[in-house]
Amino acid sequence: MTPYDIDAAIARMLPSIMRLPNPENGQPWEIAAHSRVLEVFHVAERARLGSSPDDLCVLGLGMMAEAIILAAGSEGCDARLEFFLEGRGDEHPWLRAVLEYSGCAADPLASALALRHSDRRRYAGGSLADAVFREARQEAELAQGTSLYLADRYPEEFLHQVQLADDLIFLCPDIRRDFTRWARFTDKEILKTRDGMSWRAFLRYPERGYHYLQSRLWWLGVRLDWFPRWLLGLEGFLFDDSGRPSPANYDDGACLGCVTTASDSLEDLVAAGRLALRVWLLLNLRDHGVQAMTNLTCIAYPQRLGTWGEPTDKIPELAECYAVLQKMFGFTDTELPIFCFRTGLPVAPYPKNARSLRRDDRVRWITPG
Ligand SMILES: Cc1cc2nc3c(=O)[nH]c(=O)nc-3n(C[C@H](O)[C@H](O)[C@H](O)COP(=O)(O)O)c2cc1C
Repeated sequence: MTPYDIDAAIARMLPSIMRLPNPENGQPWEIAAHSRVLEVFHVAERARLGSSPDDLCVLGLGMMAEAIILAAGSEGCDARLEFFLEGRGDEHPWLRAVLEYSGCAADPLASALALRHSDRRRYAGGSLADAVFREARQEAELAQGTSLYLADRYPEEFLHQVQLADDLIFLCPDIRRDFTRWARFTDKEILKTRDGMSWRAFLRYPERGYHYLQSRLWWLGVRLDWFPRWLLGLEGFLFDDSGRPSPANYDDGACLGCVTTASDSLEDLVAAGRLALRVWLLLNLRDHGVQAMTNLTCIAYPQRLGTWGEPTDKIPELAECYAVLQKMFGFTDTELPIFCFRTGLPVAPYPKNARSLRRDDRVRWITPG
């Protein structure tokens, strides 16, 4: 293959690589593309929640690494990866991928990169006995330093913790502002920014006229930064259209999944990101909807490491978060839960206008000389 062909292959790969999931659709990655080489930079300012564990960014890098490997494979190329994760600054790349044409066969999961998306709607059932979950477990068996747990029973104490973690977002001003800064309330705004979370992406049921009004009320709360505690009782009416607290929505699909790391080492975090993306792609490829649900893991992970910085006195019961997750999924004492998701059969094809957009200025082509 000539260098020109590699460049053309990279140009074909980049859109699907850049479609990888990322917290709040802040799109915290920038790619510098040289001939045969992709360098991945992290943009801290666009990474979500200053208060959430930095390790979540390394998990995200694992997803990026997997996306590059899959996309390269679909062009018959091997990707040789090198990580630079000491002193994680924005000024140097966190990952360098050197591509080499080898004629290798594409991994079927590569075809799901472009169709993968978040589906936060109510699901139309599904079952843990479905063959796709056998495949997902096989994916996890092949991975080192990370595991996958699946559960289709939702104890009250778990649902309660989910609700408390949702509340915490609005009770802690820093987390709340980090979260609401990515909320997009009109189609015009979405088209202009091409990042963040569309108000439509939060809907559980098909869109109705009053949802627009709802989005304006939410907009008002954000503009005024006004979220008193009593308003949280109306969360299900204001922030999505479930009309009920969010735990009520988690029994409608096939199961919940939890990806854990064996430790907080960089290798294990990257491995967890790679596994999480592969499982997400697999589920979408097999026509299952996926919604990441990391509000609990964002608490349980640092809590277990003793690095949780938020004042727990806001909601003291959240001190049980790790223990409740462990009881529900059954992971061992040494494991750290890092990424949870719900999955099930979609009620209908996902509406095109609810899909998250991506900015196209996140790739720089560097020409020699
Ligand atoms: C590490 C990580 C954590 C996430 N946490 C959540 C979450 O707690 N709730 C949620 O609804 N989506 C969550 N997401 C999904 C992102 O919001 C979503 O990927 C992004 O908005 C882009 O939309 P898309 O997945 O439809 O392309 C998470 C994604 C990642 C990678």
